[in-house]
Amino acid sequence: MKHNFFDLSGKVAIVTGASRGLGQCFGRALARAGADLVITSRRKESLREFQKEIEGLGRKAYPVPLDVRIEESIHAMVEKAVTHYGKVDILVNNAGCNIRKPALELTWDDWNTVVDTNLRGTFFMAQAAGRHMVERRYGRIINIGSVTCVFGYAGITPYCASRGGVMQLTKSLADDWGKHGVTVNVLAPGWFKTDQTAALYENKEWMEYITDRIPLRRPGKPEDLEGAVVFLASDASEYITGQVLLVDGGITTGSTKATIEKKG
Ligand SMILES: NC(=O)c1ccc[n+]([C@@H]2O[C@H](COP(=O)([O-])OP(=O)(O)OC[C@H]3O[C@@H](n4cnc5c(N)ncnc54)[C@H](OP(=O)(O)O)[C@@H]3O)[C@@H](O)[C@H]2O)c1
Repeated sequence: MKHNFFDLSGKVAIVTGASRGLGQCFGRALARAGADLVITSRRKESLREFQKEIEGLGRKAYPVPLDVRIEESIHAMVEKAVTHYGKVDILVNNAGCNIRKPALELTWDDWNTVVDTNLRGTFFMAQAAGRHMVERRYGRIINIGSVTCVFGYAGITPYCASRGGVMQLTKSLADDWGKHGVTVNVLAPGWFKTDQTAALYENKEWMEYITDRIPLRRPGKPEDLEGAVVFLASDASEYITGQVLLVDGGITTGSTKATIEKKG
């Protein structure tokens, strides 16, 4: 029997988009499993509280500003991380955004904001951290996707396009870097309440619609993602690369209570 498969003691993880929401849930889970963190967002000040929380768990948290839409910012952040800790083992590529609009109202700038952040930003972050990981012949890259890696939804076209792209770039990087000991996977959350989705949760009709389509009959809670991120960051997933791990209560099975009721 191997040592504890899920122990991340001695590992260093970069978590992008750690100023709020799911990024903090990923960071917290990795820290609880023993990893020290580099936490990032566009404004360093937004990371202070989270830094204190991670330090309270007995782990280190190094806050570094990062805008994934700016190439130099990505390079500067990875360089600071490597200089500070001497290495980076894990990247959780979580920074992202969404703009909700009917397709006919989308502007050129809307498209660029979402796709540049979610798709281009994810790739160049993976490249910058991956360069260092390939050199060390060890790395775990976890790109945050979504059910929109595999489903399309009206009103969030650029978001769906960016997440489909994240899935494909993940497979391509997995194929490229497997021989160097670097795994690249997607962790794809279903519906979780955060700032990005809060407005939807105020809408009773939408809540009923979405809950009805989730086999486990509830939207996700941030804690539902903790086991999955630790799994993909740890030795437990050593032989897994290029995969999409959907943590979605089963919504992408396509099976719904409504379908069964209609049949009956
Ligand atoms: N919530 C869900 O149900 C859900 C489901 C599937 C996937 N996701 C994805 O999971 C990730 C986190 O979602 P969330 O709901 O926690 O979103 P959120 O609350 O809106 O947080 C987004 C995070 O990304 C950072 N960010 C945004 N633009 C950035 C940029 N250009 N450069 C660097 N950082 C940037 C934000 O930091 P600052 O604004 O402080 O810079 C913030 O920390 C996103 O990629 C999202 O698309 C969410």
